[in-house]
Amino acid sequence: MAIVECRDIIKYFSVQRGYLKKGAGVVKALDGVSLEIEEGETFGLVGESGCGKTTLGKILLGIISPDSGEVLLKTKEKQAIFQDPYSSLDPKMKVRDIISEGLILKKGSKTRLLERIEKVLDVVRLPKGSLNKYPHQFSGGERQRIAIARAVVTEPEFIVCDEPVSNLDVTIQLQILKLLKEIQEKFRITYLFISHDLRVIKFMCDRVAVMKDGKIVENRGSKEIFTGPVHPYTKLLLSSIPRIF
Ligand SMILES: Nc1ncnc2c1ncn2[C@@H]1O[C@H](COP(=O)(O)OP(=O)(O)OP(=O)(O)O)[C@@H](O)[C@H]1O
Ligand SMILES: [Mg+2]
Repeated sequence: MAIVECRDIIKYFSVQRGYLKKGAGVVKALDGVSLEIEEGETFGLVGESGCGKTTLGKILLGIISPDSGEVLLKTKEKQAIFQDPYSSLDPKMKVRDIISEGLILKKGSKTRLLERIEKVLDVVRLPKGSLNKYPHQFSGGERQRIAIARAVVTEPEFIVCDEPVSNLDVTIQLQILKLLKEIQEKFRITYLFISHDLRVIKFMCDRVAVMKDGKIVENRGSKEIFTGPVHPYTKLLLSSIPRIF
């Protein structure tokens, strides 16, 4: 069953004259995008910088509205994990407050709140002592664990992971990707997983949509995409993967 669907999404941004090439006034960030994401799967979105991945993620979450087209999201329990945990975590807030922020809106006693926060720290494998520290006191990987805890603590059914490991070293990337997989299995969360890195997409995703210039050019099972790409653009992307994983 699909948990998220979108049909014919169009989103254009107007760009000031003189900013781009002469005469350019509009960026077609999304130019007729349709997809379905099944419950419990990891759906990958891959494509070069500027092809519209983040814009699509934000539209599916309702953070921005499309110019036209429709989005059907069958859950209210949605979250996002972004690329740069430093800019997405308030540097003036302690980890305890960062994680509880989303929860405070949902009612619960103080001890209950602390229990849940401590439990989620265990899930992302951060020590309890982390609660009274600030984001700058952690490494990049640890900060991403905090961002994951903040998302997971609200018990989401759907998470948009937008380049969640792009700022991390390869070994740390793998740890975080494994953690995300483990969390998905434990809590049966559906992911939209955005990356420009095909190795990461191959490791994480059940199905993959390849985007180019605001359009999906290929949308199939991950295995099929990686063993027999059909679109020339997918072939081009695949021919440039370094073999690490
Ligand atoms: N608020 C905005 N105003 C104007 N243009 C925008 C805005 N947001 C996105 N764009 C433009 O829309 C296009 C798609 O942007 P988007 O951020 O979705 O790409 P992306 O695939 O996520 O790229 P990246 O891999 O670099 O994150 C780009 O050309 C971008 O410059
Ligand atoms: Mg992006």
